Amino acid sequence: MSNIRKEPLLFQEFPKLKKHIPWMPLTRVTPVQKCEKLGEMLGLNELWVKRDDMTTDIYGGNKPRKLEFVLAEALQQKKSKVITYGGTGSNHCLATLLFAKKYGLETILVLWDQPITAHVQRQLLLFKSLGAQLIHLNEFDYSKLPDQDKIYNIGPGGTSPLGILGYVEAALELKKQVDEGLMPEPELIFVAAGSLGTQAGLELGIRLCGLRSKVMGVRVTAKEFANADLVATYAKESYALIKEHLGGVPEPDFKGVTVLDDYAGAEYGAVTQEGLAAIELMKKYEGIQLETTYTGKTLAGLIDYTKKHDLKDTPILFWNTYNSVNLSKYMKRGITYKDLPEVFHKNFEEDLLHKK
Ligand SMILES: Cc1ncc(COP(=O)(O)O)c(C=O)c1O
Repeated sequence: MSNIRKEPLLFQEFPKLKKHIPWMPLTRVTPVQKCEKLGEMLGLNELWVKRDDMTTDIYGGNKPRKLEFVLAEALQQKKSKVITYGGTGSNHCLATLLFAKKYGLETILVLWDQPITAHVQRQLLLFKSLGAQLIHLNEFDYSKLPDQDKIYNIGPGGTSPLGILGYVEAALELKKQVDEGLMPEPELIFVAAGSLGTQAGLELGIRLCGLRSKVMGVRVTAKEFANADLVATYAKESYALIKEHLGGVPEPDFKGVTVLDDYAGAEYGAVTQEGLAAIELMKKYEGIQLETTYTGKTLAGLIDYTKKHDLKDTPILFWNTYNSVNLSKYMKRGITYKDLPEVFHKNFEEDLLHKK
C-alpha cells in the first residue's frame, strides 16, 4: 500500500506516548479536496471534503484509523480472536474483520437487526465470505464463548478511549494540512455521530493541536446513544488515557460540543429522503459515493444548516467517513444467504423496503 504512515503525528507531538500507547500502521494521510461544483451549487465558496474514504487500500472510511490503535493492542496482548458488535450492515464489523484477518486473528461478530437494505444484504454475505463467526444478538451469551482469555473485545463502532485516538490523530493531520496551506482552517466540520468515537476524537484532537474549528456532529442513531454530553464524556475518557504523557498540556474544555438532531430519520439505518438527495448531489457534482446510514445524513445536515445560516465564504469541511474501496473482490463465488446462520435469512426473505 502506498503512502502508509510510519508513525502517528501524535507520537511526534507527544513522544512519551510512544512507549505507552499501542499503535500499528494501517492508514495513509488522506487528501483534503475543494468541492468546487457542489459548493457552487449550494452557494458555498469554501466547501471542502476530507477524503477519509481513502484511508487504506483494503478498506477505507473512518474505522481503520481506530483499528490502528485497537488492533495493535489485541496483537500486543497476543489474542487469537477479536469479538465486536454492530448492526447487520455494520461497516465497523467489516473493517474489523478485514484487518483482523490480515493479521491472523479470527473474528466473531455479534449483530443486531437494522432496516433491511441492499447494503445490509451485501455486508452479511461479505461477513460470511471472509470467514467471520456470526452470532445474532438475541442468541449471544458471552459466557458460552470458548477460550475467552484469547478473545479481544472491541466495542461497537470501535469506540473506546484507545480507538478514539485514531481521530485525535486525524485532527492533528488536518492541522498539518492547514499549516501547509492545503486548505483554509475550517470554521465548521460536519461529521457523522454514530458510536461517537470519530467526533470525540476530533473534539479532543482539535483542542490539543490548537485548531479553532467547531465540529458539527450529525446524529444518526438514537439520542440516548448519540448526544453532546456523551461526546464530551468519551473525549474526556480518551484524554484521561493519555494525559500523563502529554507533558503538562492543560486539560481541554469540552463546552460547546454540538450534535445536530434533525437528520437521523425514524431510526438507526432508516433511509431518509434528505439523505438520498444529498447522496445524489455528492455523486453528481463531485463523483464521491456516500451511503444512507451515516454520510448521506451528515451531508443532508450540512446542506440544511448552511441554508439557514450565512456561510457563503466560510470554510466548511465535510468529513467523509465512508469507504470507497471496491469490495467485490472479497465476496466468495457462489455464496448465497443460505450459507448464513438461519437467524439471518429473514434479511433476504422479507420484502426489501428500501432497495437503494
Ligand atoms: C461510514 C460511517 N460513517 C460514520 C460512522 C460513525 O462513526 P462513529 O461510530 O465513530 O460515530 C460509521 C460507523 O459507525 C460509519 O460506518
